[in-house]
Amino acid sequence: MSILKLQDLHFKPYINKEEISATVKFLAQQVQEDLPKDEIPIFIGILNGCFLFAADFIREFNQNCEVSFVKLASYQGTSSTENVKQLLGMNEDLTGRTVIILEDIIDTGGTLQEIYNIFRHKNVKQLKVATLFFKPDVFRKELPIDYIGKSIEDKFIVGYGLDYNGLGRNYPEIYQLTPTPKMKNIVLFGPPGAGKGTQANFLKEMYNLVHISTGDVFRFNIKNQTELGLLAKKYMDEGDLVPDEVTINMLKAEVDKNADANGFIFDGFPRTESQAMALDAFLAEKGEQINGMIALEVPEDLLVERLLERGKTSGRSDDTDEAKIRNRFNEYNTKTAILKDYFDAQTKYYGINGVGSIEEITQRIARVFDTL
Ligand code: IMP
Ligand code: MG
Repeated sequence: MSILKLQDLHFKPYINKEEISATVKFLAQQVQEDLPKDEIPIFIGILNGCFLFAADFIREFNQNCEVSFVKLASYQGTSSTENVKQLLGMNEDLTGRTVIILEDIIDTGGTLQEIYNIFRHKNVKQLKVATLFFKPDVFRKELPIDYIGKSIEDKFIVGYGLDYNGLGRNYPEIYQLTPTPKMKNIVLFGPPGAGKGTQANFLKEMYNLVHISTGDVFRFNIKNQTELGLLAKKYMDEGDLVPDEVTINMLKAEVDKNADANGFIFDGFPRTESQAMALDAFLAEKGEQINGMIALEVPEDLLVERLLERGKTSGRSDDTDEAKIRNRFNEYNTKTAILKDYFDAQTKYYGINGVGSIEEITQRIARVFDTL
């Protein structure tokens, strides 16, 4: 889950799918326990917000029941100040019935008041109200709410049926309003020899970003024998891969150290989809996000040439053997393909032509960065 932008507002992950389903299930069980076995209740969902909640609730209710939906519409009365609520879609005769209202959220209680006013005249046997979410800090009424799924703080939420200006209902999780992100964070990718390090240095200066190179972070932690460094070293000494969690915790520490940065350039991380998800979740908690993955694209043959050239003078053994170089590319391509798909799915992948002078390539990256 990462930050969600709906029109002018940003929302951060707040309640995940698992917690929502557990809450819905718990509500359905409570309602069921309170009803006599032979009672056939009629659930009435208040549209639009309740449609997902009602659908899931009903599936957790294992007794005979009826389901109906209504919409509360305001219409102007005869005088312009008079705002009267009416129910749309209420065709059933409710005389003598047990009616259970399903609400997605109760905020000030204004809507709930209208519901009580309207159902008072329907000659029901009993009227009960079940709401998935409730904001106790703003509720202003002395009205009973029989079942509450979860009490939440007084902040605007969207998702799972709830909307902001009609948007956001389709998300299976709940998101909470958050201030506009302050940072611009990118993941920088490029095959060996593409000039990633050089470009990262320019970008860092131009935009006052903090460059986090996973390699450097590892070396720093191991050299300074930090707790995480020692842990990482233990795995490495045994020839094992350092678990994602250790790597992520090192990066988190690095991000937290630079909380005032305009943004971060993540370099060499994430490498797997699960790392990308962990990074998204970590930034989202802070109300921040990855704005884009910028990948330098350079034809392989050109890179091989460059690296072989570099090998002649640098003496780096891995730069002198063409087969080894090609092997590194294969590894790179396999890894990036996964991440490209991941960021593509969020429309955050930007491929940059990496052939040209250093300045030209910096300009190309900057043009993309400015739009993020
Ligand atoms: P109330 O009448 O103040 O209790 O508000 C109830 C209605 O306001 C709900 O049925 C929603 O349509 C809307 N609402 C209140 N709080 C939220 C929220 O946090 N997100 C989305 N809609 C909300
Ligand atoms: Mg509603």
